[in-house]
Amino acid sequence: MDKEKLLILKNWIEECDNIVFFGGAGVSTESNIPDFRSTDGLYNQKYDYPPETILSHSFYMKRTEEFYRFYKDKMIYKNAVPNNAHKILARLEKAGKLKAVITQNIDGLHQMAGSRNVLELHGSVLRNYCEKCRKFYDVDYIINSVGVPVCQCGGRIKPDVVLYEESLNTEITDKAIYHIQSCEMLIVGGTSLTVYPAAGFIDYYKGNKLVLINKDSTAVDGRANLCIHGKIGEVLKEVCQ
Ligand code: APR
Repeated sequence: MDKEKLLILKNWIEECDNIVFFGGAGVSTESNIPDFRSTDGLYNQKYDYPPETILSHSFYMKRTEEFYRFYKDKMIYKNAVPNNAHKILARLEKAGKLKAVITQNIDGLHQMAGSRNVLELHGSVLRNYCEKCRKFYDVDYIINSVGVPVCQCGGRIKPDVVLYEESLNTEITDKAIYHIQSCEMLIVGGTSLTVYPAAGFIDYYKGNKLVLINKDSTAVDGRANLCIHGKIGEVLKEVCQ
């Protein structure tokens, strides 16, 4: 890893006390949750339908049982634990330096690591609601259900996850935009920045400390004030230990 870049990142983190983090599936790969678009990612594995089709609202409505087979097999990682990236981000928040984690992930690992202000743009597998009476069900209920999970009232239970064709929660997106617009330093990590509207949020950042930490290059590399190619858990460990 580029020592000079790591030193700049270390100094910027030391100087700033209004940092915001924007992340994606690459933050959880070091917790053994595969991402989507890396070569070994979920979207490069063979299924009857493209995963983006299965994880869509219309597929959920038309083929709910098939949706849940894929979802329970490929989207829930009950044994995953936070890695260095999650833990260091939580520590930066506790130190009053990091104001918000904005994530596209649905695994709940940032909160498990101790982060408190986590804005989940795509929801969470930990929250599931009856479509009829809105009763809450936890992830264990979904894991232990056979076929389509059903509520005591007879209604169908749906994960609180934003599927393709569905819109993001405006309360969450408003908060995310507020934090990105007002932060001194935006650290973007572990995301291919290819899925909108989430990927477009970083355009709200107007400062001069846009940091990109990603294994592969992205379309935003050229716009970053500091671009580090590497594993985010290792990079943050290098600069924050
Ligand atoms: N450290 C840094 N970067 C990593 C690591 C790591 N340990 N592991 C993977 N990456 C990078 C990959 O190089 C890739 O560019 O993380 C990125 C992950 O990109 P995607 O798999 O596209 O995941 P993400 O950007 O979160 O996808 C966004 O797509 O299907 C939807 O809803 C889904 O939230 C998801 C959205």
